[in-house]
Amino acid sequence: MSKTTVEDIEVNGKKVLLRADFNVPLNINTGAISDDSRIRASLPTIKYLVDHKAKVILCSHLGRPRGRVVENLRMAPIAQRLSQLMGLPVSTASDCVGQEVESKVGTLKEGDILVLENPRFHPEEEADDANFARKLARLADIYVNDAFGTAHRAHASTVGVAKYLPAVAGFLMKKELEVMERLLHNPERPLACLIGGAKVSDKIELLQNMLRRVDMLLVGGGMAATFLKTQGYEVGYSLTEDDKLGLAKKLLQEAEEWKMPFLLPIDAVVAEEIKAGAPTRVVPTTNIPSGSHIVDIGPQSIELFYSELRKCRTITWNGPMGIYEIPQFAQGTRSIASFLSTLNATTIIGGGSSAEIVQEMGLTDKMTHVSTGGGASLRFLEGVTLPGVEVLLDKK
Ligand code: 3PG
Repeated sequence: MSKTTVEDIEVNGKKVLLRADFNVPLNINTGAISDDSRIRASLPTIKYLVDHKAKVILCSHLGRPRGRVVENLRMAPIAQRLSQLMGLPVSTASDCVGQEVESKVGTLKEGDILVLENPRFHPEEEADDANFARKLARLADIYVNDAFGTAHRAHASTVGVAKYLPAVAGFLMKKELEVMERLLHNPERPLACLIGGAKVSDKIELLQNMLRRVDMLLVGGGMAATFLKTQGYEVGYSLTEDDKLGLAKKLLQEAEEWKMPFLLPIDAVVAEEIKAGAPTRVVPTTNIPSGSHIVDIGPQSIELFYSELRKCRTITWNGPMGIYEIPQFAQGTRSIASFLSTLNATTIIGGGSSAEIVQEMGLTDKMTHVSTGGGASLRFLEGVTLPGVEVLLDKK
């Protein structure tokens, strides 16, 4: 990795502003943290800073409060959970900038941990306001960014602040970047990219960038319908993006020219209604009934994907194979997740829904890497330089 990390800088006795991504899912009814993976993922950096006697000032957003205080998006439950995981006291601040916070920071001792209030309570955060970034920077001597999940956002706490402090990467940021860089530039081959999700438009740049790099591309999920339609097949009521038919055709043609396998589902589970309990049947994708929706990939597609993926040394997966939120339509997605977890290959799972499924199925430890960044890992694999990474100091 070309960026300086927390190990390359003296942190002993220093005030360190650590930007983490503690944007965890909360239970809608109770407000309790329903998955603390992102907090756990930042523990190595926090522990390192505590062990090296830094004064740790943690900053993370939570949710999208859009520049105003939203009571159930306060950081207190996160600080509590962090305290349990660290086995150490963790204090909180009533804001993330200002006199009161500065005074509180002034009382921190070596190894203390303070969690700042949600910076997105201020509209200046998302606007990457320079004055606000300076106020954040005033709290610390060093800036460490471990928030890979937010590195695609150019906000004051991810980009602006790095202009005023020595800015380095934390261990989670380093790990995510190393895995993704290797995947793009030096993967063990054959390399397969399995893409799903509802829309082609969400994944155009990913498809375009990966098409040039992989040895095999496999497409499932709702977006497969657009590819099937461009080949002249009936897709019933399945959502297609007709303005993307030309692009889908071009991608298929390019793959053919390069003799690169581009696999689409050969059969599908279809239902007349997208709702739990709806009757389903399995049909070939060349014969989707006009009054039905494709809700999942079928058993033959699952077998086909298995047999092709088995040939690969590196596999990256991004996006569900069907409407997995309805358990009856989640078979394809869940089968693929289980299968990947059994392979003796490098398996890299994009953040967002694929990571959630893997986590929920208890398979995280059986994959090589499950990214903590949904949007961020997508952007990275699209070939975009992430603004939160760009601003970190280069190794030289
Ligand atoms: C995420 O959950 O993807 C990150 O925390 C970024 O959150 P955002 O999409 O609200 O910027």
